[in-house]
Amino acid sequence: MKICCIGAGYVGGPTMAMIAHQCSDIDVYVVDINEERIAAWNSDELPIFEPGLQDVVEANRGKNLFFSTAVDDHIRDADMIFISVNTPTKVYGVGKGRAADLKYVELCARRIAEVAVGHKIIVEKSTLPVRTAETIKRILANSPHEATFDVLSNPEFLAEGTAVEDLEAPDRVLIGGESKDSIQKLVDVYANWVDRDRILTTNLWSSELSKLAANAFLAQRISSINAMSALCEATQADVDEVAHAIGQDSRIGPKFLKSSVGFGGSCFQKDILNLVYLCEFYGLKEVAEYWEQVVKMNDYQKERFARNMIRTMFNTVSGKRIAIWGWAFKKDTNDTRESAAIYVCRDLLIEQATLAIYDPKVSAKQIKQDLEYVFKQENGEVSERDKNLIENNIIICDSAFEAATQAHSVAVMTEWDEFKDIEPADLYDIVFKPAFLFDGRNLLDHKAYIKQGFEVYAIGKGLLEG
Ligand code: NAD
Ligand code: UGA
Repeated sequence: MKICCIGAGYVGGPTMAMIAHQCSDIDVYVVDINEERIAAWNSDELPIFEPGLQDVVEANRGKNLFFSTAVDDHIRDADMIFISVNTPTKVYGVGKGRAADLKYVELCARRIAEVAVGHKIIVEKSTLPVRTAETIKRILANSPHEATFDVLSNPEFLAEGTAVEDLEAPDRVLIGGESKDSIQKLVDVYANWVDRDRILTTNLWSSELSKLAANAFLAQRISSINAMSALCEATQADVDEVAHAIGQDSRIGPKFLKSSVGFGGSCFQKDILNLVYLCEFYGLKEVAEYWEQVVKMNDYQKERFARNMIRTMFNTVSGKRIAIWGWAFKKDTNDTRESAAIYVCRDLLIEQATLAIYDPKVSAKQIKQDLEYVFKQENGEVSERDKNLIENNIIICDSAFEAATQAHSVAVMTEWDEFKDIEPADLYDIVFKPAFLFDGRNLLDHKAYIKQGFEVYAIGKGLLEG
């Protein structure tokens, strides 16, 4: 069997590497129009960082795993074609800021219709609004070569930072479709390494919707515990203790209850906004409002964190150096999309702080790009004032220590393990006093920092002093 996957991104790359790794009798071709990305997949420096991914790729690349820009050739040759392109939030026209922009998916469908011959199974791997398969089928129905198609939905549930382990041992694999034969062919692929009872088959629409529903439920848990964190700070309850106490209830469960400066990542916000848009489209105003609140709570949490920093630092951060530890939206990834750090730093820059930023995996170029993006005005331009802020008030550092040297405060934005290894005494020596620590992840040993003389602001715990 030959598989072609269109889109060599965070999902296409790792998922296809895992299929190639587990199925030696399948040839897997990952194609993309982005030449730089494909070149990186073919080099020693993969375009994405994921623990364990390098080994999986290297074990199979050139044997039954290939990365290529020859999109048409591999569409033509494949028996099964995965569509794994990006589906960002629309930034123009109808549904701007909410609906998923399906132009890349549609372009793939049109390309497949144009060049395919014979019979192909098309697999939706991207996260899509429910009923997108209908659109794809209509486009495919216009194949000039009279090719025939079955469309399946097979959403991906991996989380970044744990992609390889999630793919190796998924909680479930979901396959939705109409043709029993085609569903079985895809089940057979996964059954090479996934227990059969973890491979769920449903109708197309349930599968498409389950992906949006899963992300909405996950994000809702974080917003729920973050909402509690604000109340904890007002009442001297401790959010970690509350999370532990409620998580012991087997009906609630302990996972995904870690209060933080706010969830980030490319998908939670985008997928909920997409769900909100869909609900509005179907006239379900109350349902739309319900889910939108999850995103609003997340925005509130990020703003609240920046506000608390400013208030604690005597209501002014102008000209003060603040060490920003971490830029990625979570540890063990170099992905920064929608990272809470971007929004907190925007708010601090507006207050004219100087930010000394360190992240072990994110490049200086990426950090500047993210800030330029967040400062973009309606017309797509960054004002001269904001350009100057990014140019003059940002220092990119090579270590957490360098960032903290002569800083007025340290703010933990990403829960990188290496931050836990820092000795409070060593840090205390190099920062200005009073020494402020803002822990947006409740990562560090607060007692040890307080003992050392730090004033610690922790999410859902408030300002902790000795
Ligand atoms: P990504 O932006 O990292 O990768 C998408 C790739 O598709 C890009 O390299 C782009 O160049 C390529 N592409 C776009 N249009 C193309 C075309 N017409 N032909 C060939 N290549 C094209 O995106 P991603 O993070 O991999 O996400 C892909 C999809 O998977 C999205 O729908 C996302 O919601 C979903 N998803 C993502 C994650 C995640 O952890 N990132 C997890 C589950 C699901
Ligand atoms: C999430 C889902 O977990 C995946 O199942 C899904 O496939 C993926 O989105 C997607 O569709 O893109 P991901 O965004 O990679 O995965 O990472 P998560 O571990 O879910 O973390 C998302 C954000 O929530 C991060 O910023 C993380 O720090 C934050 N988070 C997570 C918390 O603040 N508290 C928690 O308890 C858990």
